[in-house]
Amino acid sequence: MISPSSRKGMLKERAMDLVTQTTILPLLFGCLGIFSLFRLLQRTRSKAYLRNAVVVVTGATSGLGKECARVFHAAGAKVVLCGRNVKALEEFTRELADSSSSQGQTHQPCVVTFDLADPGAIAPAAAEILQCFGYVDILINNAGISYRGAISDTIVDVDRKVMEINYFGPVALTKALLPSMVERKRGHIVAISSIQGKISIPFRSAYAASKHATQAFFDCLRAEMKDSDIEVTVISPGYIHTNLSVNAVTADGSRYGALDKNTAQGRSAVEVAQDIFDAVGKKKKDVLLTDFLPTMAVYIRTLAPRLFFRIMASRARKERKSKNS
Ligand SMILES: NC(=O)c1ccc[n+]([C@@H]2O[C@H](COP(=O)([O-])OP(=O)(O)OC[C@H]3O[C@@H](n4cnc5c(N)ncnc54)[C@H](OP(=O)(O)O)[C@@H]3O)[C@@H](O)[C@H]2O)c1
Repeated sequence: MISPSSRKGMLKERAMDLVTQTTILPLLFGCLGIFSLFRLLQRTRSKAYLRNAVVVVTGATSGLGKECARVFHAAGAKVVLCGRNVKALEEFTRELADSSSSQGQTHQPCVVTFDLADPGAIAPAAAEILQCFGYVDILINNAGISYRGAISDTIVDVDRKVMEINYFGPVALTKALLPSMVERKRGHIVAISSIQGKISIPFRSAYAASKHATQAFFDCLRAEMKDSDIEVTVISPGYIHTNLSVNAVTADGSRYGALDKNTAQGRSAVEVAQDIFDAVGKKKKDVLLTDFLPTMAVYIRTLAPRLFFRIMASRARKERKSKNS
């Protein structure tokens, strides 16, 4: 004989089972299905957006630029490889051609060499870039140089050099290619900035300043280009394992020549290039590619600036001490 209270319990349990089976589970699977379908649609759309697109990559001779060029080329984009070193670019072109047989349909890349530090070289380079495939769909302003030094020791020529390569060069190239994009009502400008475009770290003044300027310029461009259907994406990565610190310029203008511990422990350029590829495909506006702590630092700079300044002052003190010891 079942007591009324246990019958009530059983009924409750059965009702719950029924609700789970008829409502919650189908709802959960439904949501998962819709989400997967949405992801698939998004991936298909971004693949279609990038296949056969003319993609210009500056700084394609090494590090992140080289990996970006590789991933866009493999996806079927018509890549224009830019840099200063003709030999390195031609060798890379051959490497891409050799890898093509194992991939889907790919295109022979085009090579354009110029120095971003030479203001007179930008307009002819832009004309040459446009001649490659007749137009440009996506410009990835990736080339850049880093800096190591104390502000008090650094000659102003060094600040100017870093600004020229990281800021004025990309700005001039963007302005030279923009009219053709506006005319076609189609184009996408990508700026590879850095987390140092959002927060400033001691002994990196020239670099952080150039990346803050980059963030500001391309944020303005995004707003001004909205009605012309030109997309603007700013990517701000944290440390990446490349030759950036090796090639960095120091206070007196000489080459730093060493792989920093932070850079050596950074993410692989291959991984970051894939994230950039995904962000461009999804037409994202502003992307921070950093770990938890640097991401927190960006929020602390905004929400608790005094705390951020104290942390940076202590970092500067520690770095000065370790240099002097
Ligand atoms: N590595 C990191 O930790 C990190 C973190 C955040 C953001 N980033 C950004 O990522 C971008 C790529 O840097 P990377 O890490 O790949 O460093 P990298 O290996 O040193 O590559 C820098 C690229 O820029 C080119 N470049 C330098 N000066 C140039 C000039 N005057 N004219 C034309 N091209 C020039 C170099 O070409 P050459 O062969 O001609 O020198 C090279 O292809 C930079 O904008 C950098 O600020 C890097």
